[in-house]
Amino acid sequence: MRAPTYSEALEFAIDRSYDINLDMLRSRNLHLDTHNDYLVGTYPPLKAMGDLNAEKLLLQVSSSIDLYFHIPFCDQYCTFCHFAKEINPSSGRVERYLAALDKEMSWSDAALAGRVVETAFFGGGTPSFLTNRQLETLFGMISRRFDLSKSEVSFELHPSLAKQVDAADRISTLLRAGVNRFVLGVQSLDPTILRILNRGHHVDEVVQLVKLLNEMGVQNLSLDLMYGLPQQTLRSWYDSLIGLLDMGIEKFNVFPLMFKSTDPVARHLARGRYQFAGAKERIIMHFMAEHILTKLGYRHGPIFYWSKQSQPHSIQQSRKYDSWNDNNLVPFGVAGFGYMSQCQFYNEADLDRYLYRVEEGEKPVWKGVVLSQDDLMRRTVMFALRSSGVLLSRFEREFGVSIEKCFGRELELLNEAGLICISNGLLSLTAAGTINSGAVSLLFFSNNILERIAYNDSRIIDKRTDLLEKHDYSPAARYGSSAEMQVAFR
Ligand SMILES: C[S@@+](CC[C@H](N)C(=O)[O-])C[C@H]1O[C@@H](n2cnc3c(N)ncnc32)[C@H](O)[C@@H]1O
Ligand code: SF4
Repeated sequence: MRAPTYSEALEFAIDRSYDINLDMLRSRNLHLDTHNDYLVGTYPPLKAMGDLNAEKLLLQVSSSIDLYFHIPFCDQYCTFCHFAKEINPSSGRVERYLAALDKEMSWSDAALAGRVVETAFFGGGTPSFLTNRQLETLFGMISRRFDLSKSEVSFELHPSLAKQVDAADRISTLLRAGVNRFVLGVQSLDPTILRILNRGHHVDEVVQLVKLLNEMGVQNLSLDLMYGLPQQTLRSWYDSLIGLLDMGIEKFNVFPLMFKSTDPVARHLARGRYQFAGAKERIIMHFMAEHILTKLGYRHGPIFYWSKQSQPHSIQQSRKYDSWNDNNLVPFGVAGFGYMSQCQFYNEADLDRYLYRVEEGEKPVWKGVVLSQDDLMRRTVMFALRSSGVLLSRFEREFGVSIEKCFGRELELLNEAGLICISNGLLSLTAAGTINSGAVSLLFFSNNILERIAYNDSRIIDKRTDLLEKHDYSPAARYGSSAEMQVAFR
């Protein structure tokens, strides 16, 4: 099957975009403005959390777990990126961090012994920033504790790895250590956009790195792409996607650009420094990708994920969204967020504080919250909707009550607005619901959580420097008082 031409993809996408009535959705608070549209990976979000006794986390560890390792180092500061990172760390800093990771891991040895590791994810920052020797150190200390031989092991790469003389050695080390899924941040193949984003690489490096990974036998490679970028036209978006498809890429993570007020790109948007796609154009970009990928035999996985029919999409993402309450996400490192023993929590997000606490012999848990049964049901629904949907019978079995009884009003609102559908006992998002998934999630936030967010938000003295403000991405935290939030989201 050939890829749709630009005019075919555009015509299809414009046609589909008419199905989404933005005015109606806005009037019902079911569409978030572009600058507030963010899909948060935790519920509750950081601003609803408080102090948490780290010992609580190890009380009910499930038999299978997922691991997350945060590697917070990068060569440059990309304008859109709010992830915890340090640019060009000073000499010895990475080794100090690795020693802290080792110490942090050692504290849960007894509690995690014998657990099956379903997935491990190395994210950042830029994990491929580590030298070959540092990678060997990292995987050496992990293999003393965990058996990754049957796990999905994902590792994030930046295209600038292609410039390193020992790029092939580093990839060999990763393959020997059990990495079997690589995620490469590409974002765009448009040189002007890459420069505006301060990505620190050219298109050539993407091509070289993909070639090297192929030559080294890497089978499972996902590329991160974004739409809604500064100066990105519909044509440029089409060309980037087609350029990567021509390179034989079989998996894509297609993200809409999401804004956090403390990132440079949010200032660029607010000050009109560059052209950004509006809400309607972003929807057209979404449908262009959908049309091109489905025509070529790709299927839509969890929310932003696409993979060729023959390939399973990421187990890590499916487990995060579909395993309901029976998985434990165990984070290691600065700003790692986890979910264990029914607690959603964050590690220290400031690198110096993380290092200080670990070196002093303390667990680096920063904030967390134990989920009530009500919030657990809410979390389950909002997460499952991002992936395989909510099987109504499973909900009733797990929670002893029907979903209609708990969330009748929310379901009615979403159904009337065309954001969800129920078919064969499965509740799922429609295309309009997927595009507005940030707003759908917000509708399921409990009053209790919204109030805690508002309270913690009101105590922030300086929003430019406050760590909570910097690391909480949730749109729920972007509105002042509780009363305002109730109006905005109810
Ligand atoms: C930790 S970064 C990727 C790894 C590597 N550091 C790199 O930049 O190539 C994870 C991915 O999240 C996505 N991402 C980061 N910030 C985003 C934002 N503001 N909106 C949407 N996606 C974003 C990007 O596609 C990025 O590749
Ligand atoms: S996008 Fe990647 S390379 Fe850029 S600052 Fe963020 S983590 Fe670092």
